[in-house]
Amino acid sequence: MKAIVVTNWKMHPATMREAKRLFEATKKAADAAKGASVVVAPPAIFLRELSALYRGKKIAFAVQHAHPESVGAHTGEISLAQVKDARAQYAIIGHAECRARGETNDEVRRKVVSALSLKLTPILCIGEKVRTQSGEHFEFVREQIRTALLEIAPAHIAKMLIAYEPVWAIGTSHAMPPREMHEMSIFIRKMVVEFAGDAGHKVRILYGGSVDEKNAGAMLREGDIRGFLVGRASVNAQEFSVLLQAIEAV
Ligand code: PGA
Repeated sequence: MKAIVVTNWKMHPATMREAKRLFEATKKAADAAKGASVVVAPPAIFLRELSALYRGKKIAFAVQHAHPESVGAHTGEISLAQVKDARAQYAIIGHAECRARGETNDEVRRKVVSALSLKLTPILCIGEKVRTQSGEHFEFVREQIRTALLEIAPAHIAKMLIAYEPVWAIGTSHAMPPREMHEMSIFIRKMVVEFAGDAGHKVRILYGGSVDEKNAGAMLREGDIRGFLVGRASVNAQEFSVLLQAIEAV
């Protein structure tokens, strides 16, 4: 089965010109990687132009953050309907950096519902901020899953991607150990089945948080995941190409 690699460019790069250059390199790396399909999530302002330039089938586009309503008095926001119109097929929803700016579980749920109704594939991000010995992080993640899935028909569950990104592993030098991810994948699947029924067995789980070419192979082999959400290693063309090669070798 092909690994799914979502590149979260966050607020990089500074200009359209650089974005085009990074996209060209990403495209080359994606074309060479038979074992992975790539989803590029650029800053929204670059999305339409990059998607319009692209003619291939190997790469799909995602938005990093968008509003659930199609139109309205929401200064500074862009809507999921607008990003769909710009040819995005995926939507990252509930990223830790958006949650840190105040996005709530309820808002995340509305976005998941809206994305599915527009036939955008939600990439639902979940993950605890800290871990303690007492295991409270399981309860935290359970609640994120429960609220996000409250209004989702079981038939839609298999269409979703769930990206588990422990906040303590994002932007650091250490990814989570694969054995712990394996345990988390089992837990997430169990929760999705609890809230959405048997269809939950089909949910596709990604890992995110300091993924690089050194840890990706083991994570894919041992972490019980379908792919990755990649930040820093996706905005460095050279690093991204090596990362895809590492995934290819699994
Ligand atoms: P990172 O970011 O790969 O730079 O840790 C991952 C993310 O925030 O999605």
